[in-house]
Amino acid sequence: MSKISIIGAGAIGATTAFALQQKQVAREIVINDVNQEKALGEVLDLIHGSALNSPCTVTLGALEDTKDSDIIIITAGVAQKPGETRLDLVDRNYKIFKSFVPTIAKLSPDAILLVVSNPVDILAYMTYKLSGFPKERVIGSGTVLDTTRLRSLLGKYLGIDGRVVQGYVLGEHGDSEFVPWSSLTIGNIPIKDFSNQLSIEWDEATEKIIADDVKNAAYEVINRKGATTFSVAAVLTRIVEALLKDEKTILSVSTLLNDYCGVNETYLSVPTIVGKNGVERALSIEFSEEEEGKFVNSAKLMKQYIDRINEN
Ligand SMILES: NC(=O)c1ccc[n+]([C@@H]2O[C@H](COP(=O)([O-])OP(=O)(O)OC[C@H]3O[C@@H](n4cnc5c(N)ncnc54)[C@H](O)[C@@H]3O)[C@@H](O)[C@H]2O)c1
Repeated sequence: MSKISIIGAGAIGATTAFALQQKQVAREIVINDVNQEKALGEVLDLIHGSALNSPCTVTLGALEDTKDSDIIIITAGVAQKPGETRLDLVDRNYKIFKSFVPTIAKLSPDAILLVVSNPVDILAYMTYKLSGFPKERVIGSGTVLDTTRLRSLLGKYLGIDGRVVQGYVLGEHGDSEFVPWSSLTIGNIPIKDFSNQLSIEWDEATEKIIADDVKNAAYEVINRKGATTFSVAAVLTRIVEALLKDEKTILSVSTLLNDYCGVNETYLSVPTIVGKNGVERALSIEFSEEEEGKFVNSAKLMKQYIDRINEN
């Protein structure tokens, strides 16, 4: 049972606090936002339902109140408006991050920082730099959300439990992400064989439709309801649970890669062992030539943004 702080009580931060409360994994949740009135409204609403769960205090806090957190979830900043990409947010959100990351890092020197704000891979890297923390304790939520979307949509298409899909979305959490179909299995059976057995159509066109649906999922939701909330909150709760319970599970979080397919000093998502120390190990995966090209392309794009920020 732990202390979790959430910086940013907007659509994602507030829904995540609710999901954490329902999952009963924390003893204390501190919510911080520059918009104190809105944040207080969220805190009161959460307190009012709290008697249904195991005790967990929920408070509105200044940055100082995040002191000695075990995990700090960072969802502060601007979100995509219809028509914007995640990368369009980088300068505005980096400026916001500079205003609080050094402070929260000093107040909770042993915490794990879970970066969610977009563009998440670039901001996770910048948080790693601004905090001075070891790379293991600065994690981007990366493509855990996209991987969950992939499993959910594939499960729906194939008419099976999405949890038996063994496969990930990798690379950037954004438009250059990709699905390494060559290693994806369903119950240990390559997806083509599985589909054949069930007489379900499966070809490259189907792969592209599913991968595009996953990639464009956020746009589809944002265009209609303004923000993604439930799926992100569920995913963040899943990551927190894996950290607190020392699960040593494998999640496609965004982590600092060095000497990985020739990629260096870049945060990107790959299958990663996650436990109580944060990132325990980023695993290598056998890519096809085309997949490796996509991965390297994602990395190059991230590096361009990181280099531009570092130059300014
Ligand atoms: N990584 C993912 O999978 C994922 C998924 C969805 C959204 N996001 C990103 O998460 C971020 C939040 O999205 P949202 O929909 O909740 O946005 P939102 O606009 O609803 O909330 C952002 C909140 O941050 C607060 N804020 C701004 N500056 C702050 C500061 N200095 N300190 C504390 N709080 C501050 C704002 O007041 C606001 O309440 C966005 O960048 C969005 O793109 C990431």
